[in-house]
Amino acid sequence: MKWNAELYDDKHSFVSQYGEGVLELLAAKAGERILDLGCGTGDLANQLQGLGADVVGIDASPEMIATAKEKYPYINFAVANAVDFDFNEPFDAVFSNAALHWIKDAESVIKRVYNVLKPGGRFVAEMGGKGCVQQMIAATNTILNKHGYNKAGQPHPWYFPSTAEYAAKLEEQGFRVTYTAHFDRKTLLQDGRQGVAKWLSMFGPSFFSEIPADKLTTVLDEITDLLETDYEDDGQWYADYKRLRFIAMKE
Ligand code: BEZ
Repeated sequence: MKWNAELYDDKHSFVSQYGEGVLELLAAKAGERILDLGCGTGDLANQLQGLGADVVGIDASPEMIATAKEKYPYINFAVANAVDFDFNEPFDAVFSNAALHWIKDAESVIKRVYNVLKPGGRFVAEMGGKGCVQQMIAATNTILNKHGYNKAGQPHPWYFPSTAEYAAKLEEQGFRVTYTAHFDRKTLLQDGRQGVAKWLSMFGPSFFSEIPADKLTTVLDEITDLLETDYEDDGQWYADYKRLRFIAMKE
C-alpha cells in the first residue's frame, strides 16, 4: 500500500498521539538501544530519542521513511519489511505502535523481533485488537454488496487478534508475556462527518479498488450514513477502535 505521509501527519496524527500511552509502557531509559518497528513519520522515535535512547526506526513505506528523515535528520531511519529484517547489533527493546495489525504473518515478525533482541530484552507494542473497527468493516461490506461489489466477501486488510491469540504466538517463539490488555478506544475522526470517508481512503483503499471513480463518493456517503447512529456524538464522529497491548520478554 502506498502511503500519503503528508495526509497522515495532517489528518491522522492521532495515531502517534495515542501512541504516547504505550511509550509509558516501554519506559525507555537513557542509553538503551531501541528499534521502532513501523515508525511511520517518526514522531514517537523522536520522543524516544529525546529521552536519551539510541533509536533506529524502520517502516515498509519509502514515503513514510522519506518524511521521517526530513523531520528528524539526526535519527537513523531505514525502509525495511517487518517480516524480513535483521541487524548486526542487538537491541534492548523493540517498540511498535499501530503497525502490527498491518502484518498478517505475525509469526514471521515475532521471530524477527526475537532475533534482534538481546537476552532479557523486551518487545512492547500496541496494535488493533480483536473487533477493531468492526462497525466500519460491516458498514463498508453492506454498502459494497448493495452496489454489487465484494460479493465474495473479501477479507479486510488487517489482523486484529485477541490477547490469547497474540500471546500464544509470542510464547511459541520463546517470549514470556508479562503484560497484555485489550480495551475499547473510541477514536475521534477529523473533520466530523467527512472523517469516515477520509479514514477509509487513508487506511482502507483496497475495499474500493473495483469502484469506478464517479461512484466512489456515493458509496462512501452511504457507508457514512449507515455509521451515523453509532459514530456521531454531539457533532463529533468517533471510530470503534479496540486496542491490544503487550509486554513480552526474551529470556
Ligand atoms: C490504526 O492505525 O490504529 C488502524 C489502522 C487501520 C485499522 C485500524 C486501526
